Amino acid sequence: MSIINATNPLGILAIDHLEFCTDSLQTKTLDTFYQFGFEKSFEHLESHSELLSQGQIRFVITANPDKNHHSQKYFNLHGEGVSKISFLVENAEHALLEAVKRGAHLMEPLKIIESEFGTYKYGCIQGFGDLLNEFVERPMAHFRPQFKKVDYDPKAKPLKQRFSRIDHLTNNVAKGEMRKWVDFYKQIFGMQVTRYFDIKGQKTGLESEVVQLPNGCVIIPINEPSESNSKSQIQEFLDLHKGPGVQHIALMTADITASVEDLQSRGVKFLNIPSTYYENIPKRPFSVEESIDLLEKRQLLVDGDNEGYLLQNFTEAYVGPLFFETIQRKNHWGFGEGNFQALFDAIELDQMKRGYL
Ligand SMILES: [Fe+2]
Repeated sequence: MSIINATNPLGILAIDHLEFCTDSLQTKTLDTFYQFGFEKSFEHLESHSELLSQGQIRFVITANPDKNHHSQKYFNLHGEGVSKISFLVENAEHALLEAVKRGAHLMEPLKIIESEFGTYKYGCIQGFGDLLNEFVERPMAHFRPQFKKVDYDPKAKPLKQRFSRIDHLTNNVAKGEMRKWVDFYKQIFGMQVTRYFDIKGQKTGLESEVVQLPNGCVIIPINEPSESNSKSQIQEFLDLHKGPGVQHIALMTADITASVEDLQSRGVKFLNIPSTYYENIPKRPFSVEESIDLLEKRQLLVDGDNEGYLLQNFTEAYVGPLFFETIQRKNHWGFGEGNFQALFDAIELDQMKRGYL
């Protein structure tokens, strides 16, 4: 039965892969992905591309020397970052035609390639900022034409508790542009707005709206900096990335304490959370199964309501200004909005303890 309908007009099944552009496959960025437990599963020697995967997460790292290749154009404009979001679709020809009919700008027309593994069909539209959005239909046993399967990757260090999929990926856009990009995802992809939040701290502020497909296979929070403060973290990202881009990618795990323990032992750097944050957890409106000591040891943040909670934490920036989030959901579908205020309160409490406030 077809999945194409009014709430999923392009027939999107999943995020097929994200492409990261870089200038060399010898950079620290590739080591970062190994540190996070990814391993090489396919490679394309001529285009200097490697597919690193973990669970259902696929990242293509491309250092294509061809200046006319989109990934290199993106790199020259923005430095390292996500240059393409590729969506696995039921019917690539339909997705492209429908997207264009709904107002998308066609960037690469449909290509059909026959191979021993089956038929590949793909094409691209202009995504948000300078990103490409690809629609792909492909045989599941193989990744892409010209890519060769890698049977053994000597650099691979899989996590004991691996990440399973991309929970969400967050876009940062300039002040005043959130509405425009929310409309882009609504109009072209048929996504719906599921959450809105306006977070104001003393030093940071942001507005955010979440768009997603009803089947939850693609969830995109879109942030813009708040007017009141031009030094917000969103503005800092926009300055470093020289424009809008993917701010963070949330990697889902079924056991965050185990995944993070492994990452910490490999030296992955996470945001430091003050101990006052953990003192306040029992006062917040949800109950947590894990001990507060364990949460503090793993530097995990928690947010929820009376129906459930999520555990999450954030790495330092690892690919240009892009960082990663690790997330485990326990019947809670938020994004940790409560943590902005909780972190702010925790830092203030800490300042008071030190007699600063
Ligand atoms: Fe997030």
